[in-house]
Amino acid sequence: MDHFLYRDGALHAEDVAIAALASDVSTPFYCYSTATLERHFTVFSDGLKPLDPLVCYAVKANSNLAVLATLARLGAGADVVSEGEFRRALAAGIPGEKIIFSGVGKTKDELAFALDNDVRQINVESEPELDALNDVAVSMGVRAPVSFRVNPDVDAKTHEKISTGKAENKFGIAYDDAPRIYARAAAMPGIEVVGIDMHIGSQLTDLEPFREAYTRMRALVERLEAEGIPVPRLDIGGGLGVPYERTNEMPPLPTDYGKVVQEVFAGWEDREFECEPGRLIAANAGILVSQVIYVKQSGDRRFLILDAAMNDLIRPALYDAYHDIVPVIEPAPGTPTYEYDVVGPICESGDTFAKARALPEMRAGDLVAFRSAGAYGAVMSSEYNTRPLAPEVIVRGDDFALARPRPTYDDMLGKDRIPDWLG
Ligand code: LLP
Repeated sequence: MDHFLYRDGALHAEDVAIAALASDVSTPFYCYSTATLERHFTVFSDGLKPLDPLVCYAVKANSNLAVLATLARLGAGADVVSEGEFRRALAAGIPGEKIIFSGVGKTKDELAFALDNDVRQINVESEPELDALNDVAVSMGVRAPVSFRVNPDVDAKTHEKISTGKAENKFGIAYDDAPRIYARAAAMPGIEVVGIDMHIGSQLTDLEPFREAYTRMRALVERLEAEGIPVPRLDIGGGLGVPYERTNEMPPLPTDYGKVVQEVFAGWEDREFECEPGRLIAANAGILVSQVIYVKQSGDRRFLILDAAMNDLIRPALYDAYHDIVPVIEPAPGTPTYEYDVVGPICESGDTFAKARALPEMRAGDLVAFRSAGAYGAVMSSEYNTRPLAPEVIVRGDDFALARPRPTYDDMLGKDRIPDWLG
């Protein structure tokens, strides 16, 4: 459930009318709901209650400081994949001891930054990374808290581009190599083995791959501990899917996911658990609001040309992702619908949000909202075509704040430098 609802015939974010925000910040813009972020965080945490995990929100899903600070106030930790994200988490008030550093290619500088900032744990993904981390830690005179991301070779049954747990994917150490690598790490002067981690993909709508991966995780921990290597922490990753197509999509609820985790780890409730959800917290806590520039009839196609484009929301172009698109003015019951190809102004055919989407008759100047755009929306946006990044607004009750302003053209052009030799 989210807090983007029609009220008196107009779409609202909590108690704020979207049309009012549009006149204030102009379109396109992202809008986040505090109550929805809080609700998703709570529902997810409650689903895993008996295991009492530290919920380390995956910052990559939406890294706006306002979003991070909202979650920090609820006690969230953070899962980060770069020094930049690490700095964001710290700036939002998440202490290093609640920050997990993930990612397949962390540099020595990034590892040193993490160690310098009391990182909770570094999820190591390869032996070369382990060696680099050991060197960095020894040179700093500390021991790095390490968890290995183990690749369980499980098919997550999600989109190929966001599947990460098969042996052929670049992520993690191979399952069968784990005992040898753990034993090596345990003997290294700069390494303290603290845990194990798995993350098999994103937007999972089937719980069985989770069950399979966690079952393999438990078996591996049992084997490692039998060999004398304690693995106190279990990081079960993120990946639980959300409903994008509300009318006919019902991914498992966090409580169902929680049941699977509890079943697999029955008897292990006293261990330390961590998880890294991103999309589940942020996706349906955000919308992208856009205005219709033109409605163009071309042969038998009807195009809705918006002022938002693939640079603002790239998921449809990159993953063929579906986003509900709704008019900001609520259509009266029984209003006839027409099929529109919903597109942006960028000069490539990939700049298409939806084909043959049923919408009431739309006119230039009308506002629409892309639902489920709070995760992997603004963070993946770019200035392609020298289009300013869409601003981000966060709502709380009847209040709202600009969480990131739209850059000016001077801001944008001012970042480039013309070399001296061009006079
Ligand atoms: N932990 C790790 C190590 C990850 O790589 C990810 C996401 C997460 C946690 C959070 O997964 P989530 O709970 O959000 O599914 N841009 C794509 C999604 C890429 C996900 C990458 N990793 C999209 O727009 O669908």
